[in-house]
Parts: sequence; C-alpha cells; structure tokens
Amino acid sequence: MSINNSKKKVPGPRRGMKIENPSGPLTVFTPGIGAVSTTLMAGVEMIRKGQRGPVGSLTQMGTIRLGKRTEKRSPLIKNFVPLADINDMKFAGWDIFGGTAYDAAEKAGVLNKDDLKLTKNFLEGIEVMPAVFERKYVKRLQPKVVKKAKSKMEFAEKLRDDIKATMKKNGSQRGVMVWCGSTETYIEQSEVHKTLKNFEKGLRENDPQIPPSMIYAYAALKEGIPFANGAPNLTVDVPAMNELACKEGLPLAGKDFKTGQTLLKTVFAPMLKARMLGLSGWFSTNILGNQDGEVLDEPGSFKTKEVSKLSVLEYILQPELYPELYSDYYHKVRINYYPPRGDNKESWDNIDIFGWLNYPMQIKVNFQCRDSILAAPVLLDIILFLDLAHRAGQSGIQEWMSFYFKSPMCAPEVYPEHDLFIQMTKLKNYLRYLMGEELITHLGVEYYK
Ligand SMILES: NC(=O)c1ccc[n+]([C@@H]2O[C@H](COP(=O)([O-])OP(=O)(O)OC[C@H]3O[C@@H](n4cnc5c(N)ncnc54)[C@H](O)[C@@H]3O)[C@@H](O)[C@H]2O)c1
Repeated sequence: MSINNSKKKVPGPRRGMKIENPSGPLTVFTPGIGAVSTTLMAGVEMIRKGQRGPVGSLTQMGTIRLGKRTEKRSPLIKNFVPLADINDMKFAGWDIFGGTAYDAAEKAGVLNKDDLKLTKNFLEGIEVMPAVFERKYVKRLQPKVVKKAKSKMEFAEKLRDDIKATMKKNGSQRGVMVWCGSTETYIEQSEVHKTLKNFEKGLRENDPQIPPSMIYAYAALKEGIPFANGAPNLTVDVPAMNELACKEGLPLAGKDFKTGQTLLKTVFAPMLKARMLGLSGWFSTNILGNQDGEVLDEPGSFKTKEVSKLSVLEYILQPELYPELYSDYYHKVRINYYPPRGDNKESWDNIDIFGWLNYPMQIKVNFQCRDSILAAPVLLDIILFLDLAHRAGQSGIQEWMSFYFKSPMCAPEVYPEHDLFIQMTKLKNYLRYLMGEELITHLGVEYYK
C-alpha cells in the first residue's frame, strides 16, 4: 500500500493545463541495463528507422475518443497530447557488468541475431556507467564494475555527477529515470523512510534500510528528474521520496511493470466480480529462465515480487463487500527459475470458481509470453507520460499511470485501482482533463433526448 504523508498538497490536474512544449533531447536514465531496458533501446531505434512498428505502445498506436460518439473524433494519443518525439530520446544507464548496451542485449538473449545486428552500432554507443550496488540487496548477482564511496550520500553525489555530465553531453534540459534494475530484497517501510530529514540522515549514516534503488531515486529527484519504478522494490513508495518529489515539483510513478500473468489477472478478476461469480482458489505458477528469473529464485527478492503479485486480487474482489463470493479463496503465486526458457516466460493459472447454486467450474490459462517484449512498450509509455506530467507541472504520485503497474502507488486515503479497464478509463480521462476536453462517462443519454 502506498504511503504519502507529505504535508504539502500535491497539485491536482486543472482543466486545460498549460503544458510546456517538448523541445530538445529527452535523456532516459535506466539504473539496470538488462533485458527490458536494452529491448526498449533497440526497439526505439528500429522504430525510428522505420524497421518496425511500435506494437504494444499506447502512446504510439492508441487513439482517444473525444466528445460524443457522433462527432467521430478519435485522434492518436500522440497527436492529442504534446508528447516528446521518440526521435528526441537519448539513453544512458548504470549496471554492474560494464561494457555497452550491446553487450547487455547480447547477454539478455531477447533479440534475435538479425535484430542485434541491425541495432549493434546504436547499442554500442551506449556505455554502461558503473553502478551503485551492494550484494546484500540482490544476492544472486556478482558485480564486476561498481562505484566506491564511504557513505550512501556520497554514492548519491556520484550518481548526481553522472546525471549532470550526461545531460550536458546530450545537450538535454529534460530527463526521466526508470528503475530497470533487479528486484531487491524485501524491505518494509521504517522510520528512515518517513521524512526527507530522516532519509538524508540515513544516507549520511549508511542506514541498511536504504537500498541502491533509493539512492538512484534520490539522486534523480535532486537533479530535477522525474522517477518511475519498474520493479516491486519499495524505492519511491515511501513518504520521504514523495516529500522530495513534491518539494522539487517532480512526478513519481510505480511500481512493478504490469506485463504478463498479472496483466491477465487484472482482466479476469474484474470479469468474475462483474458477473458475481465466486472464487474458491487461484493458483498461479511461472517458469522463467532469464537473469530476472535467477534473481527471483532467491527468497528475499522473491518475497518482494510475491507481495506485489498477491495484492492484486484482494483489492479487485473486495471480499469485505462480497463475503459470500470472495472471503475464503486460496491464492498462491509461484515463480520457478528454469534456464532453458530464457526470456520466454510461460505462466499457468488454474482458477476455481463457483456459480449459480454454488456449482463449481474451472478456468485454465496458459500464457506463453516474452517478458521483455511485453515490458518494453510499457517502459516507453511510462517515460513519455512521466515527461508529459513533468511539463504539465505535476508532482508526487501520478495515480493515472496505474495502468502500467502491478502495485500502483496511490495516496494513503485510497486503495490502489487494479482493474485494467478502470485504469485505462482513468488514464484517458486524465489526458482529456489535461487538454480541457469533456470527460467521457459512457452515459450516452444525449441520444435519447
Ligand atoms: N520483464 C518484465 O516483464 C517485468 C515485469 C515486471 C517487472 N520487471 C522488473 O524489471 C526489472 C528488470 O527486468 P529485466 O528482465 O531487465 O532484468 P535483468 O536481470 O535482465 O536486468 C536487470 C539489470 O539490473 C542490474 N542491476 C541490479 N542491481 C543494480 C544496481 N544497483 N545498479 C545498476 N544495475 C543494477 C543487473 O545487473 C541487471 O543487468 C526487474 O526488477 C524485473 O523484476 C520486469
């Protein structure tokens, strides 16, 4: 559950907001140059060269209906809101293996040989910067190239220097940072995360409750760069980070890309609830053979992911409102590391439901997906929308971006919205609101007058 105890009121959207035009390069920083981030980088380059289309990206392919259905106004989202042009995107990032983004893409094994060849020059131009990394937070990885410093604050300063140098080199006034690093070990919110003052003290005193992902986020926010979290780590889902983001006028989003099994879960579960069908059990299992799977094979990192994957059903099904249907179901999530599959994850869901007169039925889902192929367009949209929110003067948690996350961050007074189609309605209405268009309620009463 997200927590936001910032005293400063987060500015809400106003009708037809003034949004600065995107001009000049947008630098995208990714802590973690692995399967997802390199698949995005290669994909953006291929799209720019007209070698492929942006399949899976709402910002590039999606339309938005405006006004009444009879008006037949459905522009592309990218022509409706002033998004940055993907031709203006530049990439930079940190990892523990050194080399270039090409080395990382080759190792990740997502792209086939032909596509790697097509993007080789481009990916080789992206040098991996040495990471801020501590093994106790991601036990399965053995680092090769990392920064050295005496305190976590000093690490943050080194990251800030990297950010400044990269922005200068790119001639960039705007940046976005998205955590694409490994899932860190499970950490609960504690005193050090409650206020910015506590957090900065913790950075100076090397508090163990501050993992590297938080140091990157702190560095980004201090450099005026909005931040999103693609993994389930706590990272910016703590009051101290929201306080800093609001103070600096920067938007935040997270957490944990919603891509495969959970994407399906947030479609099926609302369907059961919509039809008042009961649930007695939901067993979800996965086999995954990429590095992410290896990291998640370690209990501390798995716990972080498990909490993120489990929370979804409880919020969607609302057992407190429908006790006869949802108060007694069994929910289990398993992730099994299985190297032969690489990035091609396979998930199975066995869903035991009951209907009229309590008669039992079953649904079986087998999703043979490609993890990073699903995640890359989500990452692209997050980058472009976060930059839009920044130029529209938004700060703090951007709940309208819940559409992209397994554990959407939200204000403490409300629960997160997980239903994919409510999330999409919310996102599109937010865009209409930003641009001063009528919100769409789907009432349709105008036709019957
Ligand atoms: N692919 C998906 O569908 C999906 C969905 C949801 C969440 N995620 C999350 O996104 C993240 C990235 O996934 P991936 O498949 O690219 O994983 P990956 O293992 O290929 O890449 C992650 C990279 O992060 C690096 N790293 C770890 N700690 C770091 C640090 N402190 N600083 C810099 N680099 C660091 C690792 O060395 C690795 O190269 C993971 O946390 C994963 O759980 C992925």
